[in-house]
Amino acid sequence: MGSNRMNERVDVQLDALTGLRAAQPRPEPAPADLSGDGKTFYLETFGCQMNVHDSEKVAGVLLGRGYQQVETIDAAKLVLYNTCSIREKAAQKIYSRLGAYRKYAGEEKIIGVLGCVAQQEGEEIFERSPWVRLVCGSASYSKLPDLVAELEAGNRRVMGLDKDTDATFETEITRRDNPFRAYLTIIEGCDKACSYCVVPFTRGPERSRASALVLAEVRRLADAGYSEVQLLGQTVNSYSDPSSKKMTFAELLVAVAAVHGIRRVRFTTSHPRDFGRDIVEAIDSVPQLCDHVHLPVQSGSTRILREMLRTYTREEYLEKIAMIREARRPISVTSDIIVGFPGETEEDVEETLSLLDAAQYDGVFAFQYSPRPNTSAQHMPDAIPEEEKGRRLARVMDRQREIQRARNEALVGQTFEVLVDGASRREGQWSGRCSSNRILNFTSPRENLLGEYVPVRVSSSSPNCLVGEHAI
Ligand code: 5AD
Ligand code: SF4
Repeated sequence: MGSNRMNERVDVQLDALTGLRAAQPRPEPAPADLSGDGKTFYLETFGCQMNVHDSEKVAGVLLGRGYQQVETIDAAKLVLYNTCSIREKAAQKIYSRLGAYRKYAGEEKIIGVLGCVAQQEGEEIFERSPWVRLVCGSASYSKLPDLVAELEAGNRRVMGLDKDTDATFETEITRRDNPFRAYLTIIEGCDKACSYCVVPFTRGPERSRASALVLAEVRRLADAGYSEVQLLGQTVNSYSDPSSKKMTFAELLVAVAAVHGIRRVRFTTSHPRDFGRDIVEAIDSVPQLCDHVHLPVQSGSTRILREMLRTYTREEYLEKIAMIREARRPISVTSDIIVGFPGETEEDVEETLSLLDAAQYDGVFAFQYSPRPNTSAQHMPDAIPEEEKGRRLARVMDRQREIQRARNEALVGQTFEVLVDGASRREGQWSGRCSSNRILNFTSPRENLLGEYVPVRVSSSSPNCLVGEHAI
């Protein structure tokens, strides 16, 4: 997140799909046999870290039922897609993927759609892609084990689309993919109502996990050898402890950091409205809390922020940034920006560009606005043409690149602790992340550094990464 991932340049239109749909005959799925040794699954994940972690839990549920995870669709009996619908392009990808798996319709394979597209489209997926047998939305994952049991019992089609569940998705086993950083959901769903965002619809209302359960999981993770945990939630800092302990988010951060064996604690994503001084104070006083905050602003124009129903003004947001900058240790700040929201004027774009200058972010994810179903902005007038959105995106990216160039240059000569999570094929080349979440590529004469915390001196920089050498 400390780097730019400004990749949403073109949004694909839905029309192409509509044509596809009309032309497709509807083969009935053949019965599948999930008994015996052939219980294998393939799981592909699209979207955010929440989805990545949900997939880890889904894999845990299946492994707990005697399934084996396989790397190819060919080898799998159960093929699952965990999907993202945040922008049209992401949702679109799923239907083209599903189209490609139509050829398996007659085979003994079960194809399932999970996640935000499943929640959003529901039964429509069976209509469009009749070879799909399982549809389970992200708000209903607590039902997943039952749904899998129904499939095993021979049911042809099963669906979980409840949204009124206040259960969070607790699993006995979670199969974690990253050997160095463990994700941990502390709050699911979202109670904000940003006018562009599909998440409150796809992930349902906000549900926080009891602090004791969160801490018990962190202890298990530390015992299993993880030293870095990342607390997840769409609005992670809106955490509200449902137990009688009533821990605040900042108190929870401090308690997680105090677990023996935990060396780094991260959290994402923070909502500016609920971002208080107590979080900055916690980071300031507890070294295990990483010096990075992802605090999406979305727009620099108060007028657009109001249309987006973000519940803060440009000035209020910049006050939060000032509060973070006043901390005793430097805290890196990253953000999300949407360009081309309906009615966005040249002046509004200028406001966003000047906010970039004022905020001095260390990384920005910038996106072209994409109208989504079930959102209040979907039918807003004064849509911005796609080419113009593209131009605005490029302007935001260019400005931010220069800001990052200067900020990273200022770090040359400094030494940071890096958790090494990658090795290059070239000997002696390693990479990892600083506490600030910046990527640092470095050289070292030492061997076997994966998973180690090492001091690295920065020797050169570019807008998206730092280069250095092991400071021995
Ligand atoms: N169009 C474009 N970007 C969006 N995001 C959320 N909804 C939309 C949309 N409809 C962006 C926001 C959010 C990030 C995860 O995705 O910037 O913070
Ligand atoms: Fe994640 Fe949001 Fe995409 Fe759902 S819609 S997968 S919550 S980014």
